[in-house]
Amino acid sequence: MSSLSELNQQVALCQQCEIAKFRTKAVPGEGAEDADIMFIGEAPGYHEDQQGRPFVGPAGQFLDRLLASIGLRREQVYIANVIKCRPTGNRDPLPTEINNCRHWLDCQIEIISPKIIVTLGRYSMARYFPGKTISKIHGTAQKHNKVIYFAMYHPAAALHQQSLRQTIEADMLKIPGLLAEAKSIREVEPEAQQLSMFEV
Ligand code: URA
Repeated sequence: MSSLSELNQQVALCQQCEIAKFRTKAVPGEGAEDADIMFIGEAPGYHEDQQGRPFVGPAGQFLDRLLASIGLRREQVYIANVIKCRPTGNRDPLPTEINNCRHWLDCQIEIISPKIIVTLGRYSMARYFPGKTISKIHGTAQKHNKVIYFAMYHPAAALHQQSLRQTIEADMLKIPGLLAEAKSIREVEPEAQQLSMFEV
């Protein structure tokens, strides 16, 4: 059994938060264990809770189209969320829930070792771009220890606010260039890197 399937089994048994009592299914994440790109959203919604799979509702359908726009299918990347259970009543995740779930996401990142981490929305952005505002930093990347972190709006934002659709589509198109850069960083630069911010 792969390390990720073992982790998924543990997530399915997790009872650390109150919301675990109300879930239909935990939603650990899915995709390729050796994915170059990992997308991190917020929390499962109704459809994800029903199916135990991330991003399978309307926002997920848009994410699939965004992936297709850069020639990728979801099986080729890894998709996860900051928290693994649906918050009751579709509310925002609580800080305690994010903290309780942090080690699951840490483990996933360690196993997958992605070259690029794409944050989808405010909650995953806060992990890597603390104190920043999504409207200011979406479409920009930050490099740390040979991983590129790239901030995007959450795909659901385009469903609520049509004007963001083109912004999200344009940001997505930057990912192939970042991937090429991430691959070259790993080949060329042997030493750990200083944190640096760069516009793309
Ligand atoms: N929104 C998220 O952030 N994650 C999902 O899995 C679905 C919707």
